Amino acid sequence: MTNAAAARPTAVAQPKKAGAFNRETVTGVRQYTDRLFSFTTTRDASFRFENGQFAMIGLEVDGRPLLRAYSMASSNYDEHLEFYSIKVENGPLTSRLRHIAVGDTVLVGRKPTGTLVQSSLLPGKRLYLLSTGTGIAPFASVIRDPAVYERYDRIVLVHGCRHVAELQYGHDLVAAVRADEYLGDEAREKLVHYATATREAHVNHGRITAAIETGRLFSAIGAPDLAPADDRVMICGGPDVLVDLQNLLEARGFTEGSGGAPGSYVIEKAFAER
Ligand SMILES: Cc1cc2nc3c(=O)[nH]c(=O)nc-3n(C[C@H](O)[C@H](O)[C@H](O)COP(=O)(O)OP(=O)(O)OC[C@H]3O[C@@H](n4cnc5c(N)ncnc54)[C@H](O)[C@@H]3O)c2cc1C
Ligand SMILES: NC(=O)c1ccc[n+]([C@@H]2O[C@H](COP(=O)([O-])OP(=O)(O)OC[C@H]3O[C@@H](n4cnc5c(N)ncnc54)[C@H](OP(=O)(O)O)[C@@H]3O)[C@@H](O)[C@H]2O)c1
Repeated sequence: MTNAAAARPTAVAQPKKAGAFNRETVTGVRQYTDRLFSFTTTRDASFRFENGQFAMIGLEVDGRPLLRAYSMASSNYDEHLEFYSIKVENGPLTSRLRHIAVGDTVLVGRKPTGTLVQSSLLPGKRLYLLSTGTGIAPFASVIRDPAVYERYDRIVLVHGCRHVAELQYGHDLVAAVRADEYLGDEAREKLVHYATATREAHVNHGRITAAIETGRLFSAIGAPDLAPADDRVMICGGPDVLVDLQNLLEARGFTEGSGGAPGSYVIEKAFAER
């Protein structure tokens, strides 16, 4: 280090763009439960993504970036970024991220990616967004996308959690989209929300896999059983749910889509296996 550099005060503002990351400022934080919170940040104008994608985000710890994959919960036309996060006890990132406050800096990787994108799905009538836990995050982005309402007659957001309180983010999200000045009319007509808790009493009590297999989901929303001719499915949840839902769809003749070969469903892990 040169003498000039050594003499520089440590509080010198860091450049907003540092290598592979943008440095964004936290603009809001909302606590949902002792395990869940959401936050918003500024958004660099150069940061572009497709609704449903994720980026590596995190904090600078001991001068080095500590990053994890996070789905953007805001849509690609929003001026801000929103993330919905777990708090893992002793988790390297979230044991720190859970304490962020307005004005703090969050690193946001400049290369978003992911499989939960419309371009990997063939055209269809109904779009099912099947999620558990924080797996709802990419679908918060998808249901804020006006193009999705043009593409489908119905958009069905399914969210399964252990506890009723863990469903609140989804309820707030859907209420906000239905009340939105621009999207509201379309959303009130086309957006259906099916929330369920598995470890507490709930009107839709039970796993989302069971709701599909028993047909309870379809009778509740007034739709025919899942079929690849008309239905498109996006899945995001824990590792076990993904396997079960994938098997359930493949048994019904659904095929996984990708960028090169669009199909009738797409899938992404909401968190890595331990
Ligand atoms: C493609 C992708 C997208 C993701 N998007 C999100 C997101 O939008 N929001 C989010 O909170 N997390 C998301 N994750 C998980 C995230 O990357 C981190 O694992 C999480 O922030 C915890 O980080 P950590 O360093 O505290 O603990 P880690 O060491 O990363 O995780 C420790 C353990 O905690 C459990 N765990 C981690 N994340 C979750 C979770 N989200 N829900 C339930 N259990 C979990 C797992 O058992 C994991 O092995 C995503 C992961 C992937 C692969
Ligand atoms: N949620 C909590 O209060 C809590 C508290 C402390 C620690 N943790 C730990 O955090 C991790 C993630 O917990 P989480 O609650 O976010 O996610 P999770 O365990 O994946 O549960 C989320 C929802 O998915 C359901 N589910 C799980 N496996 C399924 C499958 N194969 N098919 C269909 N549905 C399935 C669960 O139902 P079931 O309830 O029937 O499993 C629950 O409704 C776990 O390792 C857990 O031990 C969670």
